[in-house]
Amino acid sequence: MPSMIFIERDGTRRTVDAPVGLSVLEIAHKHGVDIEGACEGSLACSTCHVIVEPAWYDRLGVATEDEEDMLDLAFGLEKTSRLGCQIVMTPELDGLVVRLPSGVRNAQGG
Ligand code: FES
Repeated sequence: MPSMIFIERDGTRRTVDAPVGLSVLEIAHKHGVDIEGACEGSLACSTCHVIVEPAWYDRLGVATEDEEDMLDLAFGLEKTSRLGCQIVMTPELDGLVVRLPSGVRNAQGG
């Protein structure tokens, strides 16, 4: 099974199993990684924001316009930001590294 790495806010790297077909958000939830994902992947929030390591960014499919629009609302946006619910694991993404943003704007606006 592929695996992927989350870099948590304190810099801890966590390597976790990443079943093909699950989104990065689903994988995070499965392993208790702290990504909110308030809308459960329906592109209606930006709380699943992750920053993809540059070496991996180009290997992901291009973000849709809807994803880009939501990302514009994300706190701490970076050049390689993506929405975790829109990155779906494939065998080619084995070893994917994403970092959690330093702050999130959660559903309560806090
Ligand atoms: S969980 Fe809401 S856009 Fe990803």
